[in-house]
Amino acid sequence: MGEIDLSADDAHQVFDRMQMLKAFDETKAGVKGLTDSGLLKIPTIFVRPPDELAEESTYKKTQIQVPVIDLSEIKNSDRRKNIVEEVRIAAETWGFFQVVNHGIPRTVLDGMIDGIREFNEQNIEEKTKYYTRDIKRMVRYHSNFDLFSSKTANWRDTLSISISDHIHPQELPASCRESTLEYSKHVSILGNTLLELLSEALGLKSDHLNKILECSKGHRISSHYYPPCPEPELTLGTTQHSDPGFLTILLQNEIGGLQVFYQDQWVDIEPSLGGLVVNIADLLQLVSNGKFVSNKHRVMANGIGPRISVACFFSGPVREVMVYGPIKELISEENPAKYRDVILSDYLLKFLNTGLDENLGLDYYKL
Ligand code: OGA
Ligand code: NI
Repeated sequence: MGEIDLSADDAHQVFDRMQMLKAFDETKAGVKGLTDSGLLKIPTIFVRPPDELAEESTYKKTQIQVPVIDLSEIKNSDRRKNIVEEVRIAAETWGFFQVVNHGIPRTVLDGMIDGIREFNEQNIEEKTKYYTRDIKRMVRYHSNFDLFSSKTANWRDTLSISISDHIHPQELPASCRESTLEYSKHVSILGNTLLELLSEALGLKSDHLNKILECSKGHRISSHYYPPCPEPELTLGTTQHSDPGFLTILLQNEIGGLQVFYQDQWVDIEPSLGGLVVNIADLLQLVSNGKFVSNKHRVMANGIGPRISVACFFSGPVREVMVYGPIKELISEENPAKYRDVILSDYLLKFLNTGLDENLGLDYYKL
């Protein structure tokens, strides 16, 4: 009897939650719409389960920081060797590092952040034109790409733009059109440079990841807006995850909240003025046969935001049929392939259709 009551109750809760998610999604106003209405408590769809909240107090506070790598003398061949070595160590251990003197002017970085602020803070009618969950659209604005597949919603809205030869500038929202296109030009050059350094760090020719694997062909710019949250300790800005592509370059404003899981602790990645965060993503772990690590990270919710961040994902030629597996030069009898081959489009679709909190990342592909 008791069991029957319980499952009926559960069914009710699932139904209620689904209704709440739908109602929230239909506002097309995102989390920003909720905070604008001045609410003092967060809706239950955003509240993390009690066991997860209890676990937070078990993490130690730590002062360690991800490595910072200065790229200014990259063209000096002696200095370049050192830079490649720093990149190798960071990619093999943290899977994260920050870069400074990376060649993207401060005005371009600030312009990108300002454009995203403007997009999110403009009147609602302009924004809702872009609100969609249709993954075929090049420009998508929404709150929580995994709203209906994750257990807990995150305190975050996102504008995601796929940049390739197929996109026409007019498709981008006017508020951030120029700034995004300008940033995109610069960040794709930096992506190329980093993939050259990473190729060298793997002992391969410097164009291996760019030319042979086409890792930097096209990119997606996902800009997140994390409004201030009235109960930041009860929710998250972004659930823990590793990124699906090859490489991510992340620009963040001064608010902070990004953390990487390293040596059993959550380590804060402090915003650095003019610096950019770089991380190895799952496919680079796969093609490097596990030499480089794609590390788990998350974003805390904040009470003082908005926090704005701009993630540029390099995920290869997503429109073509591409198959990726461990690079032949990196496997041998003593070091056999650790992963099976993946079809890029299947792999990315699986990521998009799974809640962040359910995603097993590379575990599906381990041999
Ligand atoms: C991501 C991500 C971190 C941030 O978009 O994959 O991890 O700081 N973003 O917004
Ligand atoms: Ni990420």
